Amino acid sequence: MITVATRVATFEQVSSVLHALAAFVTATRIYGADHPRGERALVQLRGLIDSLPDGTRVLADDAGLIWEGLPLGNSSAFAAVHACLRRREAAGLEFRAGGSFHTARWLASDGGGARPPADTIVLLDSLHEAVIHPHPELAERLPEFRESLALYDETVRGLESVMIAGGTQGVLDTDAIGRIARRVARSVCRHGLRVLAPIELLQQSTYTWRHSVNVFLIATGVLQSLARDEEELAAFAEAALLHDVGKAVIPEEILNKPGELTPGEREVMERHTEEGARILLAHRDLSRLCATVAYCHHMRDGGFGYPNPKVRMRPGPVTEVIQVADMLEALTGHRPYRAPMSFGAAVQTIRATPGMASRAAALDLLARTLGDLAPGANVRLDSGERATVVGPGASADAAQPIVRLTADRADQALGQTVLRDLSEAHPPRRIVARILPRAGVPDGP
Ligand SMILES: [Fe+2]
Ligand SMILES: [Fe+2]
Repeated sequence: MITVATRVATFEQVSSVLHALAAFVTATRIYGADHPRGERALVQLRGLIDSLPDGTRVLADDAGLIWEGLPLGNSSAFAAVHACLRRREAAGLEFRAGGSFHTARWLASDGGGARPPADTIVLLDSLHEAVIHPHPELAERLPEFRESLALYDETVRGLESVMIAGGTQGVLDTDAIGRIARRVARSVCRHGLRVLAPIELLQQSTYTWRHSVNVFLIATGVLQSLARDEEELAAFAEAALLHDVGKAVIPEEILNKPGELTPGEREVMERHTEEGARILLAHRDLSRLCATVAYCHHMRDGGFGYPNPKVRMRPGPVTEVIQVADMLEALTGHRPYRAPMSFGAAVQTIRATPGMASRAAALDLLARTLGDLAPGANVRLDSGERATVVGPGASADAAQPIVRLTADRADQALGQTVLRDLSEAHPPRRIVARILPRAGVPDGP
């Protein structure tokens, strides 16, 4: 983990440095240390670091630099970052390695423990970044956002420890998996799609288990309308959580490769479906649905997708929802080799994917559930203001729900909570676009 602790730099300044750092490391990893792209990214990073106010402290833990879950290790890229940061130190920046451990521990203990110097906390890890130093846009959504974030964080850590233990011992802690699934199913039943809020923050993550958690949360939110009760939803959720469990046996360098896979690597990667089903079938206390989802979630009609089963096998409705949730998460999330898609563009891409015609019902359900009316969706109004959807309003028009305004026309975040039924505004307002989290890209064709 790398920690940037600052006294005087703003969130935006630190955040742009971290993005530049990630761009530099990614470019260096993909194109090599001497490639002009890496050099350009380094120049940009240096410029940004130089623009930080004096007194900003950058602390990096050289034991394991991780950007959004992507382990960067002690690569030559990291050495260059070190050099870059040290140069800035000479100009008034304090840089030291190993500082993040205490900060992380303090954050993990929620204020207790070995507390780092006051007023110096901005963490790269967006989960904690949002909690400790909330962006103005997010501050307005606290504390319910904080709650969802805690659940998300707990889920990622829970799944990660199950997978790490599963990888070393070959046995999954099915009790822990059941607990995670039941907790999220309960939360979705009680609080609706609020549980999805942290996904918006974490779209840039390429970390495998975070992808699994995102798919798990999206699918659980969508599958609520197919489940008879909370217990059944928890069973569906469990299958979603484990859909990529077969990746536990895929070599790390293929799993975390920042660029696109070669045909040979792709073949190895595609084995995660069969491996997943094999692992899950060996656990008698898991439902058959878990193995079916793991095996079928990349299948498509007409010989597209994989694996190609010897017997005719079709995914059922639950698997279909998990499959489209999986594709949505992958398309709207950040990948080092392409920009994230907007929600609308991703839905259209899935619809147009060969062999996906029979998944139309699942895709419609997903689009309806997570569409503009879904509570928590960030939207742009025809007035130019930004808002978060709270729930259906008095009007039957889907574009006129009750919203919470988050920013005025000039894109300035609002300090106080303003709720508005769009049909009762003067003049009445409508949603004109859904704002893609983080990237801020409006939905388009
Ligand atoms: Fe998969
Ligand atoms: Fe997946």
